[in-house]
Amino acid sequence: MHDIKAEITQLRQQLDFHSYQYYVLDNPQISDAEYDRVFRRLLELEEQNPELITPDSPSQRVGGQPLEGFTPVRHNLPMLSLDNAFDDSEMRAFDERLHRLLEINESFEYLVEPKMDGVAVELVYVDGLFIQGSTRGDGATGEDITANLKTINSIPLRLRTDVIPAPARLEVRGEVYYPTEAFRKLNAEREKAGEPTFVNPRNSAAGTLRQLDPRITAKRPLDIFVHGIGQIEGIEFNSQSEAYAAFGQWGLRVNPLIQVRQGIEKSIEVYYQLMEKRETLPYEIDGVVFKLNNVALQQQAGIRSRSPRWAIAYKFPAQQETTVIEDIIAQVGRTGAVTPVAVLRPIFVGGVEVRRATLHNQDEIDRKDIRIGDTVVVQRAGDVIPEIVQVVLAKRVGSAEKYTLPSNCPACSTPLFRPEGEAVLRCDNADCPAQIRNSIIHFASKGAMDIDGLGEKLVALLLEKDLISSIADIYFLRKEEIAALERMGDKSAENLMAAIEKSRHNPLERFLFALGIRHVGEHVARLITKHFKSLENIRKATEEELLSIHEIGPQVAASIIHFFSQERNCTLLAKLAEGGVTPDFEETETEFASQFAGQTFVFTGALEKFTRKEAEKYVNDRGGHAASSVSKNTTYLVAGPGAGSKLDKAQELKVQILTEEEFLNML
Ligand code: IVH
Repeated sequence: MHDIKAEITQLRQQLDFHSYQYYVLDNPQISDAEYDRVFRRLLELEEQNPELITPDSPSQRVGGQPLEGFTPVRHNLPMLSLDNAFDDSEMRAFDERLHRLLEINESFEYLVEPKMDGVAVELVYVDGLFIQGSTRGDGATGEDITANLKTINSIPLRLRTDVIPAPARLEVRGEVYYPTEAFRKLNAEREKAGEPTFVNPRNSAAGTLRQLDPRITAKRPLDIFVHGIGQIEGIEFNSQSEAYAAFGQWGLRVNPLIQVRQGIEKSIEVYYQLMEKRETLPYEIDGVVFKLNNVALQQQAGIRSRSPRWAIAYKFPAQQETTVIEDIIAQVGRTGAVTPVAVLRPIFVGGVEVRRATLHNQDEIDRKDIRIGDTVVVQRAGDVIPEIVQVVLAKRVGSAEKYTLPSNCPACSTPLFRPEGEAVLRCDNADCPAQIRNSIIHFASKGAMDIDGLGEKLVALLLEKDLISSIADIYFLRKEEIAALERMGDKSAENLMAAIEKSRHNPLERFLFALGIRHVGEHVARLITKHFKSLENIRKATEEELLSIHEIGPQVAASIIHFFSQERNCTLLAKLAEGGVTPDFEETETEFASQFAGQTFVFTGALEKFTRKEAEKYVNDRGGHAASSVSKNTTYLVAGPGAGSKLDKAQELKVQILTEEEFLNML
């Protein structure tokens, strides 16, 4: 018996050590298989000797019996919320307020840390043993979620005491979150299974923590960062950073991005640093929390009713907002796809005004039960088109109307059809005015023929005045016709003519993309051009030849063959040629393939001409390397407006700095 007890203790110590290395320090020491072997041995021994099971045994993480409900837990000290600030001046005002209140002139030391977009929890350790965990609730009373919290591998079931002893009592607060990648996976699985998806990682963390069956919680990879102190007995901290250092030594997980800075200006710099880092982090943050580091000063500053005077959250511009759907319209795209689009009451999301959001297709509308008049959550993520995440059902009004896509094309009345296996309705009338308009807009657009000045409005006007009826007609426009149009005049007509002229000699790949052949995006157009080298060759290409190109599949091949077999398209190409459009194959890729060989680029700040991804692709295509942070190995930093710490670092390291314009010139 003694031997078994000793072995169990030894196994637990081993498992604790390795999960601490793996989950808290991110520094695994053994393979998963080895860990599992030790774990299974522990389970085996505990099964044979159930009287030896202790509440801090790693076996207690897997999730026990389902609960009937959650018991309320009163917090010894209220769990506060935070005041928000939205710009630098509000942060300076916060700092000035504290100076006045505390009657101190010297600058303050701030602890600056990411504001996790998760769920606040409190963990209670008595003599080092994790005895209870709860949600924040209303701040005074939360719910007992101990069983669920135990499944989080980075929460120690017993505090480590190799550096400092465990205090008699430790209440520590933190944020439980759902890692972004795992969240995506979870939602993809739920969607496949026909289950409702979660709106964002925070909701899935909240839902997972409120699971009555801890075995389900155990299957989801929740994680935690601790960031606050409740009631403590047996130890005192002079500063927030000192407390965090102790948390780390006890084996609790503290965010490594936390910084201590002197004065508000230096602290604000951290906000911009973190804003740049935001998209690369494996979890979501919605701002940066500033805390007076000195605990005595915190106490002196005190709290207001629900939030401390000594801390504030500097929020990032929101990526999600709520607004109202004023209407839903059916839009016909250039390929005939009919998409429902929500017309929104205009709203700023993450600093950009959003008026429309795609609803994708009828299935999506039905699945989310979206109705005209509904209040909805709108999301904008990076470069992606705004989307409707969810209806706020509590705000649904009686007059909210269900929407069904029309059965005939809203532009030409042709009956719509839904190809087998597709979710999208289509109009197959090649003369559909909406398709023609959108294909012309696409033809003239940036990545395509790039005819500067020929945008949506002018295309609509030219169609309306019967000056054009196809893309080829663009090349037969006369300057006087254009100058006579409303709000045009000589100068703009001249500019447009010059832009049209320039486009006549565009590279073949752009021309091919501009034609708007289904499934032929910029990348495919490039592959095909590179292979066939002339429009004539592409027109003559057989399916076999097309399929011989790496990355070209049967769908793309069929679409290309179909396009060039259509009589009307042959007429169109003939007319384009007659209009002087002679796209040429340029050996861009080979000529420039090694332009940036051995060079490393870093992009920072806002770019206007391309997205960061595109810019990085240019670098990669030309043999260079795109990195995310500045080091002595950086060749160039391309800095747009709003560049922050990367710019400072580049200057410090004497890295050559380029404007976006200069980078463009290099291309
Ligand atoms: S400190 C005494 N630090 O934000 C101040 N809170 O809006 C109490 N939160 O309820 C909070 N990350 O759940 C603090 N690094 C962080 C945080 C953080 C997220 C949450 C917390 C709080 C809410 C307040």
